[in-house]
Amino acid sequence: MSKGKILVTGGTGYIGSHTVVDLIENGFEVVSADNYHNSKASVLDGIEAITGVRVVNHNIDLADQAATEKLFASHKFDGAIHFAAYKAVGESVDKPLEYFRNNLNSLINVIDGLRKQGNSNLVFSSSCSVYGNADELPVTEHTPRKDAESPYARTKQVGEDILYDFCAKHKDFSAILLRYFNPAGAHPSGKIGEDASNAASNLVPVITEVGAGKREKMTVFGDDYDTRDGSCVRDYIHVSDLAHAHTLALEYLIGGKASENPALFNLGIGEGLTVLEVIEAFEKVSGRKLNYEIGPRRPGDVIAVFADRSKATNELGWQPKYGVEEIMRTAWNWEEKR
Ligand code: WQD
Repeated sequence: MSKGKILVTGGTGYIGSHTVVDLIENGFEVVSADNYHNSKASVLDGIEAITGVRVVNHNIDLADQAATEKLFASHKFDGAIHFAAYKAVGESVDKPLEYFRNNLNSLINVIDGLRKQGNSNLVFSSSCSVYGNADELPVTEHTPRKDAESPYARTKQVGEDILYDFCAKHKDFSAILLRYFNPAGAHPSGKIGEDASNAASNLVPVITEVGAGKREKMTVFGDDYDTRDGSCVRDYIHVSDLAHAHTLALEYLIGGKASENPALFNLGIGEGLTVLEVIEAFEKVSGRKLNYEIGPRRPGDVIAVFADRSKATNELGWQPKYGVEEIMRTAWNWEEKR
């Protein structure tokens, strides 16, 4: 018997598709809503190849209130995970209005749809970018949010605030805010991975594309920071580990275990790695030398950020299984198959 019917918005996207797989493997029924803005319908084949289940995707724009209402009229959900959003930091600087319109309207429409159904369980995708340039490392859930470094990050801050205000008024509505650090890697089966229609700009896909010869070389953005080797430090978390945290979060919500509302969790592995260490891990697992050069710092980059994940481990029972070598091995396997 199904543990419940879950709406996954952005279900064909990178983190969404891995979460769909994890939910199905853990006994949930999934309905996806995704307009393929930055994903492809073929992801549904990959999900089916792994799970044996053909997931239904509703190709709708969740920022469109009427379309979203129609979706909620056609299904009765037991909970929702809201991934669907624009996520390119650089693009958000150029198109702030588009980012606010899309990321906030869709969140409001999903909250409204759930509430009108009398459903009260929502997991929201937030980001470590809400911390801005944090004063203390690792960051805990108590580390104050600072000024957002981009409109993208601000949409996540405002999204969190909307849920704080909404839950304060509607005590029977429960939400979880998950702050992701740097998701990377691909499903170990090699059947799904990051398949964005937009050009990759994140470190790991850039590395694998250079490794595969799809790009001639890459630039390490700065080697004069105050870090172990001068390059920036991030917390890279395997996408399947991240996906599983969503299943645990939903079970926690549905089980009524949350001690605060919204409940807030950092999802990182809890270790910082430099850009050069990630490149080294790629060279080790692929046996290839990566063609890279050291370039200037990238505007907007924070120097170092990594998570204290003890809250997610203690309260959700979340234990990430994969380290950087598995991240690079699965990302490389995916790149070679694409
Ligand atoms: C990682 C490191 C770069 C590319 C962003 C969002 C965050 C999250 C993940 C998403 C940095 C360096 C990168 C390259 C490089 N959310 N780099 N050469 O900026 O930490 O985080 O994505 O939806 O909210 O802010 O990730 O992968 O772009 O960069 O040297 O060609 O790799 O400078 O230090 P970032 P990233």
